[in-house]
Amino acid sequence: MERFLEVYGTLPRAGPGSNELTRRAFQSLADLPSSPRILDVGCGPGMQTIELLRLSAGDVVALDLLPEMISRVRDAANSAGVSDRLTTIEMDMQAMNFPPSSFDVIWSEGAIYLIGFEAGLTRFRPLLQPGGYVAVSEVVWLKPDPPAELVSFWNEYPEIDFIEKKLDVIARTGYEWIDHFVFPPSAWTDHYYGPLENRIAEESGEWAGIPDAEAILEAARNEIRMFREHADYYSYAFFVMRKRSDADRSPEQT
Ligand SMILES: C[S@@+](CC[C@H](N)C(=O)[O-])C[C@H]1O[C@@H](n2cnc3c(N)ncnc32)[C@H](O)[C@@H]1O
Repeated sequence: MERFLEVYGTLPRAGPGSNELTRRAFQSLADLPSSPRILDVGCGPGMQTIELLRLSAGDVVALDLLPEMISRVRDAANSAGVSDRLTTIEMDMQAMNFPPSSFDVIWSEGAIYLIGFEAGLTRFRPLLQPGGYVAVSEVVWLKPDPPAELVSFWNEYPEIDFIEKKLDVIARTGYEWIDHFVFPPSAWTDHYYGPLENRIAEESGEWAGIPDAEAILEAARNEIRMFREHADYYSYAFFVMRKRSDADRSPEQT
């Protein structure tokens, strides 16, 4: 884990995304209170956390399993001068025990997959105010019949699917669809794969001959190569949705 964090823990983001995409998703949230309470699940180094603090006059609770990430998001908030509205929590998202209706918005970029899209949306719903919003990014297939190496790579996340299937999940977990949009390739490269390539280059010499360290670098190189060769088959997409009231749900959905 230590070596893994030496590479991944230093990147500006821990997954695809950009402030521009965070802004676009945030702008689709209508009728927010003037100071919304926002939960950022799997905040990582916190690029989107800081952007959310800039975009709203609200309070953000940034939650991550790793203390290293919690300390990075705190440092980033201090540097940006927005730490007075930030609370950080080191916690497993599976163990979230906030009281019902604690948040107006639950945000999660590149992290809901850790418990699964459907399980995550189901878990978030009771924590939201009536009419509260969820904005999450999630990996999706863009076209059918992906090459075998992609299928094998994404076997690790069996919930990867087409956008239409994700919209079905949104409806059956008790949400109204608000918006969705696919990430451009630059959202993978500018703040994630580009800096990762730099870290790989920096560590390659030093870690040569250390098998577990070389394996981390090789896996990262392979993931980036696969993306560059096959980016037309998959990407991340942002999904924005709104909690439906229990009364709006059909009996099989309640
Ligand atoms: C792919 S990263 C995304 C980070 C950030 N949202 C971003 O887009 O840069 C996923 C984050 O989820 C955190 N994480 C992993 N498992 C978790 C869990 N069970 N509960 C909470 N956070 C978790 C990781 O430490 C990591 O920071």
